[in-house]
Amino acid sequence: MVYTSKDMIKKAILPAAGLGTRFLPVTKASPKEMLPIVDKPLIQYSVEECEKCGINDFVIITGKNKRSIEDYFDKSIELEASLIKTGKSDLLAEINTHLNSNYAFIRQSDPLGLGHAILCAKPFVDDEAFAVLLGDDIIDPDETLLADMIDIYETYRAPVIALQQVPDGEVSRYGIIGGDKVEDSRYADSVFKINTLVEKPSIDLAPSNYAVIGRYILTNDVFEILESIRPGKGGEYQLTDGLNALLQKRDIYGYLFRGKRYDAGDKFGFIQATISLCLKRPEFSEALKEYIKDLVKTF
Ligand code: UTP
Repeated sequence: MVYTSKDMIKKAILPAAGLGTRFLPVTKASPKEMLPIVDKPLIQYSVEECEKCGINDFVIITGKNKRSIEDYFDKSIELEASLIKTGKSDLLAEINTHLNSNYAFIRQSDPLGLGHAILCAKPFVDDEAFAVLLGDDIIDPDETLLADMIDIYETYRAPVIALQQVPDGEVSRYGIIGGDKVEDSRYADSVFKINTLVEKPSIDLAPSNYAVIGRYILTNDVFEILESIRPGKGGEYQLTDGLNALLQKRDIYGYLFRGKRYDAGDKFGFIQATISLCLKRPEFSEALKEYIKDLVKTF
């Protein structure tokens, strides 16, 4: 099959308007998406993950107290001038990585839920499939999750949702799917045809322990569904409910991700992400290993 350019995934929606209550008090005044893993804000990891897959158009959903996200993806003329003047022009490339891509910002005036946040992007998305990345889910940069999901989308021409198997005790924190494994020689035992999605079920009502994580390839018809759903769990417009309704109209696939993911929207997950990603950086790796070894001896 020959794909037209319309079929390719070129755009990503990055919802970033949530309140970040799990990360209070800092999120009272600073966006969770701007929390740094050393020197890079969380949202930058999602952008780089997309860019590696040829996605360069971003629609970022922001809200109250989120202005710093827009500033981060803008040029800083004063800072550039100062770096040049003080002989630090080697840092220019680091502060301008965003210039590789295009960004549109939409304010979600009320954080009414992830389903509502994605619906806010509708005017910026044509009749095309697109990626959705939740910035607080950090996928190890060496993994190929998004590229694999795009590949699976191209095979089935249907929405693809990233999944991870979670312990029973964590099921009620996630959207959970029910479904059947599909024979797929390239992604053995990892592709599911989904037959139901439930937002944050109790363990006795959960259809499985395959949890939806923050990576999606969605098709344009999801918007019509999101316009029609009612508030669900927590009084929010849940994407999970929208996708469950979309199942009445089309197939949806799940892709079981077995690689490294960090829930950096959770305090302990953020600590894990910070340590793990620092250990991968050559300039910190050896010194950090030594530091941790010595440190644990004192506790
Ligand atoms: P979360 O469920 O993590 O909510 O949202 P949250 O508010 O960010 O964080 P907690 O749970 O209160 O600590 C999942 C994603 O959906 C976005 C969030 O920014 C996050 O990327 N979101 C959520 C919105 O953009 N708008 C909303 O109304 C809700």
